[in-house]
Order: sequence, then C-alpha cells, then structure tokens
Amino acid sequence: MKQLVTFLLPFIGILAGNAYAANIDDPVLERGQEVYELTCATSYCHGPAGGQAGAPRLAAREFDALYIASVTANGVPNTPMVGFANALSAEDMNAVLTYVAFLNGIINPQFTVDDPLASLGIAVANPRRIPLAGEAQEGRELFFDAYDKSLKRCSTCHEVEGIGIPVASPIATVPGSVSALRNIETPNISTVTLSIGSNESMPALLLSRGIAGVKFYDMSAVPPVLRTIPPESDSEVFNIAGNADWHHHDYISAYTDEELERVLTFLRAISE
Ligand code: HEC
Repeated sequence: MKQLVTFLLPFIGILAGNAYAANIDDPVLERGQEVYELTCATSYCHGPAGGQAGAPRLAAREFDALYIASVTANGVPNTPMVGFANALSAEDMNAVLTYVAFLNGIINPQFTVDDPLASLGIAVANPRRIPLAGEAQEGRELFFDAYDKSLKRCSTCHEVEGIGIPVASPIATVPGSVSALRNIETPNISTVTLSIGSNESMPALLLSRGIAGVKFYDMSAVPPVLRTIPPESDSEVFNIAGNADWHHHDYISAYTDEELERVLTFLRAISE
C-alpha cells in the first residue's frame, strides 16, 4: 500500500492543482516551499506540493489566508495536526503560509515577515529569547533552524524557550559532554503493537493509557506522530513492551561533534 501511495503521489499532486508549483521564482515562495517540504510534507502528513498523503491535500482547496494561518498556528484539536505557532521562526512562518496560500491561488496574502500571525490577529505565546552571542547563538540556530539536518534537528522533538514541538518532556539535565549527548538513553520508549487486522508495531512514547484509550507518539515517524487508539477501536493496543530498537543517536546523527558542542553551549547558556 505504501509503495502504491508513493507511486501515486506525483499524480495526485498534479490533480491537486500543481500547475502553481511550476513557476515558483519568488524567494519567499522558494523558502516557503523548502520549509513546507521539510516540516509539513513528511510520510504521515501532507504530500509534496500540497498533495494528499496521510493528511489532507492542501493545494487548491480555496482556503483563505486567515484560515491557513490559524490552522497552521494552532493545529486541529484531536488530530495529529499540531500547532506550529512556536515551532517556526517568524520568517519561516511567513514563508510557509505564503506558500500554502499560493497553492490555493492567493497571490498576495496579507502576511508580514515581522510577525505573520499577529498581523492576522492570531495571538501566540511570546517565546522568551534572551540575547546570545558567539557559540551559544550558533548552538541555538543549530537547535531550532538547522534545516539542512532535515527534521532530525532538536526542535523537532524538544521545546526550549517556548519553541519547538514538545514530544519529549522538558530537558531536565544538560549532558556534560558531546559523547554523553550521543549516548542518551531513552527508557520511556516502548513498542506498541496494534492487534486485529493490522498487526502494526512501532516504537512509541506513551503519554496516557486509560478509559479514553491509549495516547502515544509514534516514534517511527519524523516528526513523531501523535496517535490515539480509542477503546472501541477495532485495532487495539495489545502489547506494550520495552524497546531496544529506537536510538536517540540515530536522530542527532546529522550533527557533527563541533555542532553538538555548540548546541550544549546554548543549552547551558539558557539554563543558567
Ligand atoms: C526524533 C525526536 C528527537 C530528536 C530529533 C531529538 N531528541 Fe532528544 N529526546 C527525544 C526523546 C523522545 C527523549 C526522551 C526519551 C525517554 O525519556 O525515554 C529525548 C531525550 C533527550 C535528552 C535527555 C532528557 C533529560 O531530561 O535528561 C536530552 C538532553 C536530549 N534529548 C537532547 C537532544 C538534543 C540536544 C537534540 C538535537 C541535537 C535532540 N535531543 C534531538 C527525542 C528527540
């Protein structure tokens, strides 16, 4: 099935109105496309160029600019669509909103680079960002904005300074060295196996298990995907066991030792 979807995606993309995608030469749109491909168009989520994948198609839906901005900022409750208000810099938020607006035929949306969400009256938490310089500031950029690391950048799973996706609980202890950071243990990752029909099995970070069902992050996806298996679902969680196959170091392997040194310098600077 997965192969079929992968095979069909380009065609779905064309059907989704990707005549637009052909003539992107504006730098803001180019950046927006880049941010979109790296942040939104991942296996579980939206397809390339606004096409459909695990999540709905975004291109040519006649969304208006305000709707696009508010869903992107706040997410959709009870779905894997998390809010990105604090996950992207203002500039990248502006670019990606402009790009998705463009996919919906809006050529000149009223976003402003300084604060695209505020310009539409969407309030977001104001991240506390103390001024930093030198290696600490470089480490901050590597933590949040290292797009060349694709989604294997720290802010994909960690929220710091009010920015990032809080998959993991807040970092309690800054590792003492790069090798300690490379060797972080992940005792809270388990394996969730779904029964009946699917027999799907995945590494998971369990959030809750109760009468409302089982809630967990599927850690096989990047970014991890929030899933809820309701108690009445025909696919139930029948096994939650320890996991030996998910390794934190695989998700930070795109960073060099020098870069991780700067990331640690940044984390120390803000925890002082
Ligand atoms: C794909 C998701 C993901 C990425 C990317 C990621 N981490 Fe993590 N990290 C986790 C998870 C999940 C845990 C907690 C695991 C557990 O508790 O079993 C964790 C734990 C940690 C811990 C230990 C937390 C503590 O309180 O002691 C530190 C430190 C850490 N990560 C730092 C980083 C840094 C720095 C980066 C970027 C270089 C990074 N992580 C990238 C998912 C990720």
